[in-house]
Amino acid sequence: MAHDLVIVANRLPVDRVTDRDGKTTWRASPGGLVSAIEPVMRAHDGVWVGWSGGSEQRLKPFKVNGLQLVPLALSAEEVEEHYEGFSNGTLWPLYHDLVAKPEFHREWWDSYVKVNRRFAEKTAELAAKGATVWVHDYQLQLVPQMLRELRPDLRIGFYLHIPFPPAELFQQLPWRRQILEGLLGADLVGFQLPGAAQNFIRLVRQRVGHKTHRDLVYLPDGRTVRAAAFPISIDAAGFEELARSEAVTERAAAIRDALGNPSKIFLGIDRLDYTKGIYARLRAFGELISDGDLTVDDAVFVQVAVPSRERVEHYRNLRDDIDRLVGRLNGDLGRIGTPAISYLHTSYPREEMAALYRAADIMVVTPYRDGMNLVAKEYVACRIEEDGALVLSEFAGAADELRQAWLVNPYDMNGMKAALLEAHQAEPKELTRRMKAMRKQIAQHDVKAWADSFMTELAEDGQHSKSVLPATRS
Ligand code: G6P
Repeated sequence: MAHDLVIVANRLPVDRVTDRDGKTTWRASPGGLVSAIEPVMRAHDGVWVGWSGGSEQRLKPFKVNGLQLVPLALSAEEVEEHYEGFSNGTLWPLYHDLVAKPEFHREWWDSYVKVNRRFAEKTAELAAKGATVWVHDYQLQLVPQMLRELRPDLRIGFYLHIPFPPAELFQQLPWRRQILEGLLGADLVGFQLPGAAQNFIRLVRQRVGHKTHRDLVYLPDGRTVRAAAFPISIDAAGFEELARSEAVTERAAAIRDALGNPSKIFLGIDRLDYTKGIYARLRAFGELISDGDLTVDDAVFVQVAVPSRERVEHYRNLRDDIDRLVGRLNGDLGRIGTPAISYLHTSYPREEMAALYRAADIMVVTPYRDGMNLVAKEYVACRIEEDGALVLSEFAGAADELRQAWLVNPYDMNGMKAALLEAHQAEPKELTRRMKAMRKQIAQHDVKAWADSFMTELAEDGQHSKSVLPATRS
């Protein structure tokens, strides 16, 4: 059956759950992306194409909560080479400021091309004549061009959820030109921040040699591609409602109790990823205690690290490093029943996250580089009493909007310690002033507004590219 809207992403918006009898079923995953896209999908008879997360070959399309999902299988070798290899061993560190060293392997690239082609072919099969296709993220950057070759009638949008690096770094990639050309298959290429869109335009001019003017690229075949920023957000009203619920309010109090009612709770919640700066922030906190600026009665640090990409070496090493650091800090600084750090290597449902956000006095988000960071926005949305402090890295996309946070450079240990201490000691009036402004920003720019603006631009760009080119081009 042909669909007027196809969403293409590496992951499907569902989690696989195995019940007691070993039977596997799917459960809708509560991500913001799906909640934003769901209404558009329903209105346009949409379908979502994504990797099932496993290697089984015979998966049929299925529905969860009325959403039509089409799973694609990757072989075990493709999981290793496309997903763990090129996506997360090459592109992920390259696009995050080389926080870790990217590896370049020709077999990984071949697999990336092959898997991207599978996504493009499946999408070409599913899309109705003139349909809109929205492709997501760094795992699928070749899909726009492959799809355009198969189906020139489609409107194609691409959105990159992670940073897009400056030319000086991107240049290292042996397949830089192919990636740029892959993205240029789209009519609209969306990024988190204006700087990323500018990096892309500059690279297209320098490396592919196309004419560009501001946010437009002019292709030799007469097509125009627009590159622009669409900062992603969260379901702010949904989080706020959850935070106000009785269950979450009670759970937040229970969490404080379980921690021994310390005077202040610091909180970090991240995927266990080396870009997130978890190690440095825990060290900064540990030093504040060993320096005598804080005591374990004044403060506890709750760090939730969500397991991620566990078969990739950098991730395994990071886990070991953090395990050791937490053990050392608690051994050196904690007392019986009063650890310095409460460390949880697990993932939690939205309700528990909301309760943690409500329980925490200081939220610490210190990535070395991050496309946006939705945890920072979720914390703000859950602070219904307009208090609580956010310590936020300048290198997270969210820092562009959350200007009233305590902004820090995560490479500057002393700067980070000073910010943690200031946030710990801030007066209630100061906290409210800052939190009010941030809450206003998040309420006005939620994920629905994000999806609407991307879809509107994608539709409008269609009319735009048919118009006459402006005279001035550079
Ligand atoms: C980031 C990426 C997503 C990715 C997610 C989880 O947010 O932008 O594309 O799905 O991390 O990572 P995973 O490797 O588990 O899909």
